[in-house]
Amino acid sequence: MDFEKVIDRNKTNSMKWDFVSDRYGSSDLWPMWVADMDFQAPQPVLDAMQEVLNHGIFGYHRRPKSLREATTAWLQKRFDWECDNDQLVFTPGVVPAISHLIQTFTNKDDGVIIQPPVYYPFYALINNNERKLLRNPLKETDNGFTVDLDDLEKKMQDGAKMLLLCSPHNPIGRVWSYEELDSIAKLCEKYSVFVVSDEIHADLVLEGKHIPFAKVAADRNVETITCMAPSKTFNLAALQLSYVVFEKKASQKAYEAHLQRQFVEIDNPFATVAAEAAYREGEAWLEKLLEYVRENVQYVKEYIESNIPEMKVIKPEGTYLVWVDMRNLNMESSKLQSWLREEGKLALSDGHIFGDEGAGFARINVACPRENVDEGLRRLKNAYDNI
Ligand SMILES: Cc1ncc(COP(=O)(O)O)c(C=O)c1O
Repeated sequence: MDFEKVIDRNKTNSMKWDFVSDRYGSSDLWPMWVADMDFQAPQPVLDAMQEVLNHGIFGYHRRPKSLREATTAWLQKRFDWECDNDQLVFTPGVVPAISHLIQTFTNKDDGVIIQPPVYYPFYALINNNERKLLRNPLKETDNGFTVDLDDLEKKMQDGAKMLLLCSPHNPIGRVWSYEELDSIAKLCEKYSVFVVSDEIHADLVLEGKHIPFAKVAADRNVETITCMAPSKTFNLAALQLSYVVFEKKASQKAYEAHLQRQFVEIDNPFATVAAEAAYREGEAWLEKLLEYVRENVQYVKEYIESNIPEMKVIKPEGTYLVWVDMRNLNMESSKLQSWLREEGKLALSDGHIFGDEGAGFARINVACPRENVDEGLRRLKNAYDNI
């Protein structure tokens, strides 16, 4: 659990480190973009995977009941959410799962609402499936970002079929309150919109408490399909294991039939044992991780406030992603982007990729040792001092 330890990820085919030039056009940029962590997974996870490796046979594999049990026990313990083992359907990743959900439950040209600025693959998921993208931008208030309920209602009146909720919200870092979730649920009930809730960041709560939307919607007549995974929580993204939690059997059957038609079924043993070990034995590691991330977030906030007063840190309540408001620099999106790359030598996630509302912002991933955070901040300050 040494989060201070710097582990070289170069030459490991890491997307964040080795493929920075593919994305940013230069390899000398300091990578704080892709949402994975520069930390090793918890020891029990490594041990479980080592055991599979030592066995040395990697034939066809099925997810065992014990993985379901470990998962539902985790949901109960962390979110006080009681789910049956057979409410879960495992899928290779949350993004593919959402695509399959869109295909199963909506038709061509049906409206799907998103709340930008938001995790950018949501756009492609809707557009590539030829659904109608309905944008319900978050509202900026003196107290931070929240849902624009009036606009959400208008989008529902326009005939939306599905709301793709991001909870906690990436990149804003909001952990939605019960009141916010219930206001959304109320509208969904009124307009018969069903919700796909992407809760992949649910375990990464720094302030407050994550409430599964399905728990809120259970009191109303709103169907929710929840997407979750141990991948962000325990840094297992490459293992490609996620799951969907269904509230209605008929919907679950429709989804399973869809997956069978697509042959999205073969599982891998490393992901199974990693996820099970993480859920059974990873909680202490997670608590330490959250402490470390909280400190990094605070550090970034204080550093930027005292060294780069024209930037404002939107302190995340959840996720390890820090949304930084750079609008006071008065640079066009493309200028800000090239300034961060060319002057800052930084690979951050440019705000505009999350939607027009993200223009003038950048997202910084702080799930890394403090030394790495420092290097990023040093570069940012250097670019700022040279303006
Ligand atoms: C909101 C959100 N959903 C999904 C994903 C990716 O999920 P997966 O790797 O399981 O497809 C991310 C990764 O950053 C994310 O932030």
